[in-house]
Parts: sequence; structure tokens; C-alpha cells
Amino acid sequence: MVDYIVTVFTADLLNATTLNNVHIKLVGTDGESKRTWLMGLKGLASFFRGAESCFTVNCSTSLGKLVLIELDKNHLPLFPEDSWFPAKVEVKSPEGDTYTFPIYRWITDCEVHRFREGTALTIIDDTHPLGRYARQEELQQRAKDYCWHVYAEGIPHCIDAEDPLSLPCEVQFSFTKKTEFAYDAATGLMDLELKGLADYKAKWTDMDAIKRAFWYKLSHIPNYVQEHWKEDAFFSYQFLNGINPMMIQRCTTLPENFPVTDDMVFLSGQGSLTDEMKKGNIFLCDYKLLDGLKANTINGKKQYLMAPLVLLHKRPDDTLMPIAIQLKQTPADDNPIFLPTDSEYDWLIAKIFVRSADFNEHQLNVHLLRTHLLAEVFAVSLLRNIPMVHPLYKLLIPHTRYTLQINVLARVTLISPTGIFTQFTASGGEAMTTILKRSLSSLTYRSLCIPEDIADRGLEDVPNFYYRDDGLKLWDIIHRFVKGVLSYYYKKDTEVQDDPELQKWISDIFEHGFLSQAATGIPERFTTVAELVKFVTMVIFTCSAQHAAVNSGQYDFCGWMPNTPSSLQLPPPTKKGKTSKEKMLQTFPDVNVTVKSMATVWLLSKHSSDSVYLGQYPEGHFSEDTPCKLIKAFQGQLKVLSAAIKARNESLEIPYTFMDPAEVENSVSI
Ligand code: FE2
Repeated sequence: MVDYIVTVFTADLLNATTLNNVHIKLVGTDGESKRTWLMGLKGLASFFRGAESCFTVNCSTSLGKLVLIELDKNHLPLFPEDSWFPAKVEVKSPEGDTYTFPIYRWITDCEVHRFREGTALTIIDDTHPLGRYARQEELQQRAKDYCWHVYAEGIPHCIDAEDPLSLPCEVQFSFTKKTEFAYDAATGLMDLELKGLADYKAKWTDMDAIKRAFWYKLSHIPNYVQEHWKEDAFFSYQFLNGINPMMIQRCTTLPENFPVTDDMVFLSGQGSLTDEMKKGNIFLCDYKLLDGLKANTINGKKQYLMAPLVLLHKRPDDTLMPIAIQLKQTPADDNPIFLPTDSEYDWLIAKIFVRSADFNEHQLNVHLLRTHLLAEVFAVSLLRNIPMVHPLYKLLIPHTRYTLQINVLARVTLISPTGIFTQFTASGGEAMTTILKRSLSSLTYRSLCIPEDIADRGLEDVPNFYYRDDGLKLWDIIHRFVKGVLSYYYKKDTEVQDDPELQKWISDIFEHGFLSQAATGIPERFTTVAELVKFVTMVIFTCSAQHAAVNSGQYDFCGWMPNTPSSLQLPPPTKKGKTSKEKMLQTFPDVNVTVKSMATVWLLSKHSSDSVYLGQYPEGHFSEDTPCKLIKAFQGQLKVLSAAIKARNESLEIPYTFMDPAEVENSVSI
């Protein structure tokens, strides 16, 4: 007889305990154990939350190299069936070897579940027939659990789930996250003390009333925004370091539909646009994607959404300033080019229309599509095509945490016909799908990779551009880590080409995420290790750093409504000199629209107490030395970057914290 010492670790997670009987079977290359009841000295406490419990499994002879374990649980007559969250199982063999079996998922039924030994294996290296069988069986089940769904034609496909409860429990929010999120959502307006205003469908009559509603400050930034929102320098700053750093690009030729002249923007003889463009000092933000859309109707009133063009000038002292704004795409007499030299309210209202357009473009294209919906595609394809034992699963699964559930919630509560976004933003309703479709058809792979995106937009040497500075460093650190891990498992390009699971992962992403549009540049298959490394870097960057950059500051920059109105309810001026402060107040969204938007961006800016930050992998899916060392090195580099960002921020009027690795979550979870 030989003894195997089995240690079972139950996760330290709310409700992770089981009082049911747990059985295990060990399966090795030379045989398998009997199904053994794990009954130990601790009795019922063996599988309590956080417990680490040891058992002995006897076998008549050695089982050889362990390949997998089978776990199941059943309940006693007096105890109901419950849900159990084992973290991992360790088995010490009679030969003295220790095998780790990562689990990190709920077991809710009394079926038999198979878990592979922790060494990562691609299908090529997975030579044992039982291993291969378990792999196939796992993917067949996942293909049933995670089905693609077409939410609307022309946008990325999503998970087929009507509500969060219909998702498999392994991808649902934890009890902690669920409770906090529901509480925050339910009490948002109360916490902001806005309850009395939530149904008040009237216009604002003075700025002080807006200030009184905006009393809640999460950080120093909302205060700053309230004080500086009218200033040109702050207006420009937000194109670089606000929550939408994706619009600005260097301008080398003026667009034909934006006929700005030297006389408009320079005092006579003080400069020319052509010269300044040659020097690389002119920048453009073009919201052409929003052109010709039917704006929403809110509180029974027609709303207005513009598709502006904004020209910016980098001055000799390195400050970036707006020099011209045209609110509609087609030049016309009733579509004036607004200038900083216009009357205070002409210029301010023009900027407000730009900020409102930016809110809508940001939420739908930059935030929802380019981070949330893509992260969901990467996750669904991973779950359907890549088994747990595969190195890609181990590498990417932490970067999919909570993404499916947060997106299901977004579809149910934000963009559904009665959703908050649909009801209270200018682009809600009909325009929303059009914007998402246009955004997807203009999206490129290059624009998802920050080094190429910055180069393509000509922004390499723009001063004080912290999104770029922090983002490029993060990209490099992530790339180094991903390269280390993947080149450990794929030594040659042919190994990438010959991995059918990996190829199915990317081809599903190409088909379901990018709707087989080859013009996006998204690979349809991988031919080299380098291509794979770059794509996986982009996936991790998008789910973590990029989402943080466009998500975390939503309350900071959009909480103060005048800086970022979700909708506007008067048309923009068609002639100069007709505006006033009263006109501006009448243009702002109604009180109820303002406070509902404020509560929503407040909720979407809150981290939950069980957030996991970039590079932290509390679930040890990898067990081999090399990937574990690479994770340590990755964490070390992120720490150094975090310290450098904190030191840099000390001297900034507005600290740029969104891409500080200590503040960036591993996944799209809010
Ligand atoms: Fe988000």
C-alpha cells in the first residue's frame, strides 16, 4: 500500500464553505485511486472558508505521474446541498513529489469535476489520453455554458445571458462585489443627497443651484473642475489627460470642411497656420462619427448633439490652447467658426457643445466599445476555446474577472430601452447603435496598441501628456511579461501555428468581435510567437490600463455637469453675438438629467473592496518556477513605475493617477 497526502484549500471568500461530503479520485499515468471520502480530524470544519485540511488517500500501488483529480461532493440528509469554492488541492506522492491542482471556481452540484495538474500544457504537449479527454470534455461543457449572442447587428457579439443570474457562477460577481454594487446603485442618489432632485424635470436657473447639487467630492479633481471648467487651458488639458485622450491628433493639413483662416486665429502678421502645422504645433479633434445623428428626446424635449471640429495650438511656452471650434461638419453661414476672441458666452457655449459631444463619444466608443465590449469578446472566446490547463488560460483568466457580469448589467440597466444611458444622454436610443456600428467599422488594431496609436496620431512629443507617458511604460512592462511567459511555452513559430485551441481563440475574436472585417488589421490567425505576444499584450493592456484611463475619472471629470453635459436641450447658436448666461443655463440638461448622470458616473467610478490590481494574481493558476518568477518580476516593475508616477504627480496641479499600476484593476469590472 502507498499513501498520498492530499491537502485541500478552501478559498477565503464569503460563502465559500461547504458542509457537504467531499470525495476525491487521483488519476495518474499508471492508474487511479478509488473514489475516497475526505473525512478528517476537523470533521465538518474541513471545508470551512479559508480552511487548509489534510487527508490520506491509500492506493495499492503508485499511480505514476499525477495527471488530474476528480472531485465531487454530496450532502447529508440534514444538510442541504451548498456551494463550495475550493482554491486548490495539493497532493504529495509516495515518491516525495508535490502536485498542485488549481481550481478557483464554485462547485455547486453533486457532479464529478475534473481538474488538471498545474503545469501548463498546450494541446501538443498534453500527450496523456486521459488529459486529452478531460480537455475535450471541459471545452464541450464551456461551449454550452458560454454562447455567443448578437445584441445588435454591426457591433461585437456578446455572451448569451439575459441577466447576471443566468451566467455560470464561476464568472459571477463575488458575494462582496454583488452586495456593494447593489448597495451603491440603490443608494447612489441618496449618498449624493440628490433624491429630491431626481424627478425634477425643470431647467437650472442659476449656477449656484448646480453647485449646491454638486457637493460630493471624491478627490481634489472635482473641485478643480468646478473652478476651472470655463478656462481654455483646462479645456485643452482634458484632450490629453482627461478621461478621453483618444480624440486628439496632430494636424498637418486642415480638413476641407473646416475652413479656418490665418486671420481668424492669428493677429495679422503674428503667424500662419501653414507654418505652425509644418512645425507640428497644430492639433485637431474631429467628432465626425457623431455627424447626422438623430438626438434623443428627454423629458418630452428634443435634444441636440453636435459633431464638432476643434483646432488647438501649441504655444511657444508649451501650453496647448483651443483656437477654433466649428460645431457641425458642413461649413455654412449658420455654422460659424467660434473663436476665443468671440463674446464670452459664444465661446463658452461652443466649448460646452464640444464637451457634450465628447461625453457621448467617450461613453459609447472609447469606453463601452473599445474596452468593455472588446474585453467581453476576449473573455468569451477564451472560455469557449481554451482549457484551464492551457498557458493562455492561466495568463488571461485574471484579466476577465467580473467582465461578463458588468457588461450584462450595462445591457440591462444602462443601454436597454429603459436604461439610464438611453433615457438621459443625447445619444441614447436610435443614435446609440449607429455610433457603436460606426465606431467598430472605423476601429483598427493599431489604434488598440498604444505605441502605434500615439505614433499614428503624431503625439510622440506633445508636452505634459501623461496618458501617453504612463501608458507607453505600462505597455512595455506588460509586453515584457507576456513575452517571457509565452516564449517559455512556445519556443518556435510552428508551435503557435500548430496549436488549434489558440488559433480558434483568435479566429473567434476576429469573427465575433471584429465581425470578420479584415480592414481592422486584427489578425485572423497567429503565425509567429511575436504576433501572439503583441496581441495578448493588447488584450491585457485594454482590459486593465486602457479601461482604467477611460473609466476611473468619470466622476472627477463628468460629475460637474457644466464640464461634461450628457445632453443639451437648445440648438447651438447659428449667429454670433446672440448668447448670454441665461441661454447657457437653458441649454444645459434638466435637473433630473443632471443628477441621474451624476449618480451614474459616481457609481461607475467606485472600486469595490475586493478589487484586484494590475499584476496581482491571488489565484495561483501557474505553478511552475519560470512563470512564477516572471510574475514576481512583473510586479516589481509595476511597483517601480507606480512610485515614479506618484513622485511625478506631486508637482502636478492635477495629479494623473488613472494609470498608476496601484490604481489600475486587472480587468474590466466596473
Ligand atoms: Fe467601465
